Amino acid sequence: MKKQVLTGIKPTGRVHLGNYIGAIKPALDLAQNEYSETAYFVADYHGLTQIHSCEEMKELSYCIAATWLALGLDHEKAIFYRQSDVPEIFELSWILSCFAPKGLMNRAHAYKSIVESNQQIGKDLDTGVNMGLFTYPILMAADILLFQTDLVPVGKDQVQHVEIARDIAGNFNKQYGEVFHIPDYVIQEESAVLPGLDGRKMSKSYQNTIPIFEEPKKLQKLINKIKTDSSLPKEPKDPNSSIIFSLYKEFATSVQIEDLKEKFHSGIGWGEAKKELFHVMNAYLEEPREKYYELMSSPKLLDEILEQGALKARAKTIPFLEEVKQTIGIHRSSRI
Ligand code: ADP
Ligand code: TRP
Repeated sequence: MKKQVLTGIKPTGRVHLGNYIGAIKPALDLAQNEYSETAYFVADYHGLTQIHSCEEMKELSYCIAATWLALGLDHEKAIFYRQSDVPEIFELSWILSCFAPKGLMNRAHAYKSIVESNQQIGKDLDTGVNMGLFTYPILMAADILLFQTDLVPVGKDQVQHVEIARDIAGNFNKQYGEVFHIPDYVIQEESAVLPGLDGRKMSKSYQNTIPIFEEPKKLQKLINKIKTDSSLPKEPKDPNSSIIFSLYKEFATSVQIEDLKEKFHSGIGWGEAKKELFHVMNAYLEEPREKYYELMSSPKLLDEILEQGALKARAKTIPFLEEVKQTIGIHRSSRI
């Protein structure tokens, strides 16, 4: 039996190395496996919880689509779509919300952390919280459960959301039998949370990112900004506790990795290590970067690819949603 793999990225900023290493690369690796069927998408309606500018929404959605394709997603093989083109997701989202305890939403990290920071500064607890943000995990559960997903490759920060999807599916199944598959998350243990330039989690929200398709000069500048410890140039360094080395591993060959490890032990300077990182990263990203800019200049082509993907997606989602509706006793008129 093939495994269904699914993941999405929301268009809320330029795609960065954390997104690539935590979600995109593992997802593309899983796509190579002949035992998996893959569904990858632009989570634009999740993005709407944050992005309230028409131009930005359009541009950032194309960015995410072009990024997936430039990095090697094969849209003939995978189902590749815009979330908003698949209306069944939103219908299922409502159904699932009736099986999602409000307390579960109260405990979701994104909402909880806003409430906590409001509390600290003495503001009303729900300041800045729209209902889309509050019910965000339910829409994500709908994304996952509608495709009968087995595996969800994500970064560590999204694990709680997958667990919420499991809980909601469990609540539903308890009542109606085994309707939904219970999904598992897949995380890259080693690089589950890639630190950003300031040492916090690399995130669009903290402006501490290295965008993956940054032009070479800027890429080098950003790499130079990565925080390092105060060890001196000739001192031996521990590769395993260095973000420079963890990043290097993602882009280098095994021979190059061993080589740099040696150099760490014998005391490479941080400046030199950063140069080596830039070289492997730039060489690896050169071709996809070119493809990315080419795709960004062809929005029509991107629209076409995504629309075809939505048709493929709906061939799966329409019959399954119908099954769910029958299960709960919601009537569908044959005349509509
Ligand atoms: P951001 O925090 O920049 O807004 P998203 O929430 O859009 O990123 O995340 C998209 C995907 O990338 C998710 O699967 C998320 O877990 C992963 N991801 C984001 N930041 C990192 C990081 N610093 N390290 C590893 N994975 C990450
Ligand atoms: N919430 C995810 C993020 O912020 C994006 C996302 C939306 C997603 N729906 C999903 C990820 C379904 C995996 C599966 O990155």
